[in-house]
Amino acid sequence: MHTNLTPINFRTRTSVESPPVCSAVKKTTPQIMRNLIIVISLLATSLAASSAELNLIPWPAKVQPRAGQFSLDGKTVVMADAPFTNEAARLASAIHLQTNAAAGKNRIRLTTDGAEGLGEEAYRLEVDPQGVTIHARSAAGVFYGGQTLRQLLDPKTRQIPFVNIEDAPRYAWRGLMLDVSRHFFDKPTVLQLLDWMADYKLNRFHLHLTDDAAWRLEIKKYPELTQAGARGNFTDANAPARFFTRAEMQAIVQYAAQRHIVVVPEIDMPGHASAATRALPHLDGGMHTYHPAREETYDFLQNVLLDVMQTFPSPWIHFGGDEVNTSGWSKDADVAEKLRAVGLAKPQQLEGYFVRRMTKYISEQGRTPMGWDEIVSAKPTTNTVVFWWRHNKPEMLEQALAGGYAVVLTPRSPYYLDYPQDQSYPKIGWKLLNTPEAVYRGPLLPTNLPSAQRKQILGVEACVWTERIASVPYLEFMVMPRMVALAEMAWTPDNQRDFAQFSARLKPFMAQYRQLGIQSYDADQPDSSLREASPLPTPASAAAAHANN
Ligand code: ACM
Repeated sequence: MHTNLTPINFRTRTSVESPPVCSAVKKTTPQIMRNLIIVISLLATSLAASSAELNLIPWPAKVQPRAGQFSLDGKTVVMADAPFTNEAARLASAIHLQTNAAAGKNRIRLTTDGAEGLGEEAYRLEVDPQGVTIHARSAAGVFYGGQTLRQLLDPKTRQIPFVNIEDAPRYAWRGLMLDVSRHFFDKPTVLQLLDWMADYKLNRFHLHLTDDAAWRLEIKKYPELTQAGARGNFTDANAPARFFTRAEMQAIVQYAAQRHIVVVPEIDMPGHASAATRALPHLDGGMHTYHPAREETYDFLQNVLLDVMQTFPSPWIHFGGDEVNTSGWSKDADVAEKLRAVGLAKPQQLEGYFVRRMTKYISEQGRTPMGWDEIVSAKPTTNTVVFWWRHNKPEMLEQALAGGYAVVLTPRSPYYLDYPQDQSYPKIGWKLLNTPEAVYRGPLLPTNLPSAQRKQILGVEACVWTERIASVPYLEFMVMPRMVALAEMAWTPDNQRDFAQFSARLKPFMAQYRQLGIQSYDADQPDSSLREASPLPTPASAAAAHANN
């Protein structure tokens, strides 16, 4: 049973009637002007107040509230143009209505009519006495319109305020990454996260499936990976094997697709490879790497990627490429021969060779390669997407953009959600702090980025690394509500964002998390919210558990 976080909206509609102005008629012109200014500003305040009462997250690009409401009743139906019948069925089920092909009054209509000028994920939502109309060009647009509608609907009164909304995302890439290697999180937990992502219009779920701690994905050709390779986790090397079977992963991918989320798999290479090389020692290159010179390594990784591509229809395949420790790559016979064959001098140069070879291979399979920012120096294929994670190395972002690469922004500051939210919390091994406000503001970018290069930024992604996250309640506590802050940063136009307004709109959502027993960080009560997140590691025990890491 999964919980969608559509908030209970307690809206009181403010009418936007003008105060009486007739007494102004007998007054002098300047007085009339003054009165007019007062009237206009009252009107503006009143309109603004109406918008503020719509507890929508992420805040739409354009909102025009109107007085009045449409009430759902036993006869209201959801009707859709042919391309949107699946969306209609899912929306109807979510808000407890029936679908019906016939037109009529008292309906929620999903249509391509009037949507010609809209962008890929955009929608227009109109609520008036006839009912609700969602215009969109794509099923994704209809879905997002439906998500907004669900937030507008008061579940108690079944009323939807009259409103016109025109909406489209700021960024095409609105991602969340989960590391299931360091600690495993199972299918129900992943499905719950996908529901929450969908509630706030996030659309890319990046799964970090392999790392030194464990390998977490069944690969049919190499059962060793999910026997020896899937055993253990970051805090317990002897923990029983945990992994996703291909069937489980296919179910996750399908569940995500119904919510317009692409699951992007990451198989980290050539570093962070210890779990794989524990299972298949002949691939070991030392210092947690695959052997960079043996053809067995490339055969293995290409076979793994082919299997991954069968399970994941994602247009993108992430191959990691981060933190490669090449110090174990000495000139053994294989390395010497490979260097000669490819015309390189030093073993360390095989890192670039590896990156170029894997990006070429992934591209040849018709997918787009993705990797962490270390790969930029290797000059990977031009279609590669670079994930800028080292906020303290802005030059990596600059190099990636200058090299013509598309980029996803995932800087540790402020987008690593395993860092604490509050300065009063113990740092449990990490020095940085990422408050919800910092997540909402977004990353600091070099000020001199040419505007043409800014267009290469696909979007943003928050990363949930799990060296220090070992339980579902603690995972929730670290994600909520920072993921929600990220979602508004990723969706809402920059000039429409305001952290104080966001915090006010967040309150009913926070109340709902508490009601549903979802752990969340409350900036107003950091102490009690940390206590509520029990069974959290207590600050002292968490610090002790990781004292050696
Ligand atoms: C990373 O944090 N190593 C991408």
